[in-house]
Amino acid sequence: MTACIVGWSHSKFGKLDGETSESLVVKVASEAIAHAGIEPRDVDVIYVGNMNGGFVKQEFHSSLPLQTHPDLRFKPSTRVENACATGSAAIHMGLNSLAAKKARFVLVVGVEKMTELNSAQAGDVLIKASYVAEEAEIEAGFAGIFGKITSAYFQRYGDKSDALARIAVKAHKNGAKNPFAHFQKEFEYGFCRNPSDKNPFVAGPLKRTDCSPVTDGAAAVILADTDTALGMKQAIAFRAAEHVNDFLPMSKRDIIQFDGPTLAWKRALEQARLDLLDLSFVETHDCFTSAELIEYEAMGLAPRGQGERAILEGWTERDGKLPVNVSGGLKAKGHPVGATGVSMHVMGCLQLSGTAGGMQLASPKLAGIFNMGGAAVANYVSILEPVK
Ligand code: COA
Repeated sequence: MTACIVGWSHSKFGKLDGETSESLVVKVASEAIAHAGIEPRDVDVIYVGNMNGGFVKQEFHSSLPLQTHPDLRFKPSTRVENACATGSAAIHMGLNSLAAKKARFVLVVGVEKMTELNSAQAGDVLIKASYVAEEAEIEAGFAGIFGKITSAYFQRYGDKSDALARIAVKAHKNGAKNPFAHFQKEFEYGFCRNPSDKNPFVAGPLKRTDCSPVTDGAAAVILADTDTALGMKQAIAFRAAEHVNDFLPMSKRDIIQFDGPTLAWKRALEQARLDLLDLSFVETHDCFTSAELIEYEAMGLAPRGQGERAILEGWTERDGKLPVNVSGGLKAKGHPVGATGVSMHVMGCLQLSGTAGGMQLASPKLAGIFNMGGAAVANYVSILEPVK
């Protein structure tokens, strides 16, 4: 345990017409600094997670947090990108700065403004997070990649559309309790299960309700070394922080095995000296409902091919043996790609500090977080525990 989160902030996620990535960065950066109870001059290093790739014209984001306060001028700040795991990648850069003793306080901001493009244009940006040489022609943007993965899973293990619909229903039921969520309403099982005009097929077996939406939003955390953190108002420690990259081409991997996520989880649980079921809850990367299904297997909750049991038998519901995505997950909360990893850590902190409002679980002690870039390519697991 070498570092802690000592302050955090989260914007509303959704289609935020009045906001720019700059206004979102400024809002969450200033709120996170205030929440930590530090002054802007106390920040030593800044990392900004932003995937961009054409979502907005302003590509160069590193100095946007400096707009928050004149005392941030001349602080070293770097933009970090690792596809949909960009937010966790930025947090890891901050952890490295602390481990190298180059900082006492690190400001990490994750941000994405996606809705200036329509869904098809956003899909053209997101497909750049595939292995373009072989996969860029797949239709329907990144949904097409997961459409292929889902079809391959169904071919090997049978049609799991019932389980996918149940995962969507769970996400929206939980998202309805999350004031930050893009969608704050429940969806009926029949609506998610059956294709319709309002719920058409998007890619392979995936319908609209199986997909995370195109979303704007930002989140921020303040990281500190543990000695410093213990003197702060609140401190949520990293018991583990693991990062595993796999080959980029899907053709080089058994793509439904999710080997990278599996290894990241194994290493994180070993580092924390915990079993999966010691965790009070997990926030996992449900960019598509089938991703959550396969991640149940990767985290070790169910054997290969049996991930459906975790949802059909209620294990991952709010009151189950391992609640998964009580925030609503990417599916209901939204997935502003550069912000998502930071958002997941903020959701963990809200629960562990007992400040999650209507989302609050009863006395959670340990949070597991899994954030994924590309099709199981850049994989990050954090295990968080409150120490103050
Ligand atoms: N889940 C549920 N409802 C959704 C939705 C989603 N993911 N996306 C949009 N909707 C709803 C809208 O709120 C709207 O509802 P309304 O008619 O009641 O107002 C309706 O569906 C139409 O919205 P629209 O934006 O026109 O839908 P679309 O068909 O253009 O886009 C997707 C839907 C699924 C194609 C789009 O959200 C998408 O591309 N998602 C995947 C994003 C992605 O790949 N992220 C990276 C993952 S690694």
